[in-house]
Amino acid sequence: MKALVVGSGGREHALAWKLLQSPKVSEVVCIPGNGGTAALPRCRNVGMGVNDFEGIARFALVNNFPLVVVGPEQPLADGIADFLQQQGLKVFGPTQTGAQIEASKAWSKALMAQAGIPTAQSEVFTNAASALAFVQHQGFPIVVKVDGLAAGKGVTVAHSLDEATAAIEAAFSGKFGAAGERVVIEEFLIGQEASVLAVTDGQTLRLLLPAQDHKTIGEGDTGPNTGGMGAYAPTPIVTPDLMERVQREILEPALQAVKDQGIDYRGVLYAGLMITPEGDPKVVEFNCRFGDPEIQAILPLLETPLADLMLACVEGRLESFPPLEWKPGAAACVVAAAEGYPDTHRKGMAISGLDAAEETGALVFHAGTRKLKGETIADGGRVLGITGVGDSFEGAIANAYAAAACISYDGMYYRRDIGHRVKAR
Ligand SMILES: Nc1ncnc2c1ncn2[C@@H]1O[C@H](COP(=O)(O)OP(=O)(O)O)[C@@H](O)[C@H]1O
Ligand SMILES: [Mg+2]
Repeated sequence: MKALVVGSGGREHALAWKLLQSPKVSEVVCIPGNGGTAALPRCRNVGMGVNDFEGIARFALVNNFPLVVVGPEQPLADGIADFLQQQGLKVFGPTQTGAQIEASKAWSKALMAQAGIPTAQSEVFTNAASALAFVQHQGFPIVVKVDGLAAGKGVTVAHSLDEATAAIEAAFSGKFGAAGERVVIEEFLIGQEASVLAVTDGQTLRLLLPAQDHKTIGEGDTGPNTGGMGAYAPTPIVTPDLMERVQREILEPALQAVKDQGIDYRGVLYAGLMITPEGDPKVVEFNCRFGDPEIQAILPLLETPLADLMLACVEGRLESFPPLEWKPGAAACVVAAAEGYPDTHRKGMAISGLDAAEETGALVFHAGTRKLKGETIADGGRVLGITGVGDSFEGAIANAYAAAACISYDGMYYRRDIGHRVKAR
C-alpha cells in the first residue's frame, strides 16, 4: 500500500517515518515534505502546496494512493478532507465541520458546555466595545483568545486591565482576518499542562500515550510562546487513573457531542489539558490533528503498525482493532530552532553532523529543512526535532542531548532543560 502525507514539518517527517515501518506500506509521498522526508528510503516529496486540494486529489488518484494523512490544521479547517473524500479517497483527518473543534474556539466552547466537559468559564464577544466592558469587572489574570486559527499567536494571558485591553484591541484590529471576528475571554486556569491525543473512527476512541511539551522559547519555561521547543512521553503527571478520567469525562463526551451534530469525525482528537492542583483535568483547547512536537515523542514508542491503525480509523473498524502496543520506557524530543525564532529568523544555514547524531541511536526529524545540492539547509523557525528513546526519562533525555551536540549550524538554538518537570520528580 502507498500512503500520502500532507504537510512539511517535524510531525509529517515522524508520520512518514512511522508509516514506512508498517509492513503494509511500500511507499510514502509527502506533499510538500522537507529535507528529512526527501532522504527517507521509499519516501519522496512532491512539490505542491497543502492547499492545492485539486492537485493533491489528482496525484493520489492517478498514482493510486488510497490513504491520505493530513498533518496540519489549516487544510483541515479549509475542507481538504471533504474535498478528497468526495473524490473517493480515504482521509485520516476530520471534515471542515469537525475541524471547527480547533478552528473555532467559540464553537469548541459551545460544544464543551453542551457536553458538560470541564473547562474554563468563558464568554464570546463579537465586538471590542462589549469585550472591553466585560473585562472592566473581571479579576486578573484573564485569558483573551482570538476565535479562529492564529498560528499560536492568538492567545494572551492578560495580567492587568491594560494588557487585556491591548489584547482585545489587537484581536479586533483586523490583523487576524476572519479569525478575529470573534473573541473568547476565559477564566485563567492554574496547573500543569498536558496533552492527551486520541485517534478515532467517529465511533470509538483509542488514546495515545500522554505527553507534555515546552511551549516557550526560554529555559525555565520563560519568554514568548513558540510552536513547541520540546516534548516527552509518557508523562507521569497523567497517571493511569487520570487517563481513565480524561477518556470518560472529556474525550468520550466530546466525540458523542460531535456525533450528535451529525459529524463523522475520523482522525485525531487532541485534548490540551490543564491538570489543576486538585488533580482534575480541564480542557484548555481541542485540536483536530497530531501535536508537534508531541507526536515526535509519542510515535517512536508505538509498536502497533501506524498504517493499520489509521486504516482502521478511516474505514470505521476501530472497535475491533487490537489494543495499541507500546515500547516500555520513554522518549524525549528536543527542538532545535533558528536564530531569532519565534520572531523573524535566519534561513539558509548549512546543517552538519546529522549522520553522527543518528549514530547515537537518536531519531532526527526535520521540521524546517530542505535539500540543496546534497546539503541539508535550514529553512524554517523550528529546524529539527531530535528524539531520544530510553528505558527511563533520564536516558531518553540524555540520548536526545548527546545527538543534539553532534549537530551544528550557524545560530543553532535549543533549550537545555527539556523534561525538567519529569526529571525533578
Ligand atoms: N484558560 C487558560 N488558563 C491558563 N492558561 C491558558 C488558558 N488558555 C490558554 N492558556 C495558555 O495559552 C496557551 C495557548 O492557548 P490555546 O487555547 O492552547 O491556544 P492555541 O494553541 O490555539 O494558541 C496554552 O497552552 C496555555 O499555556
Ligand atoms: Mg494550544
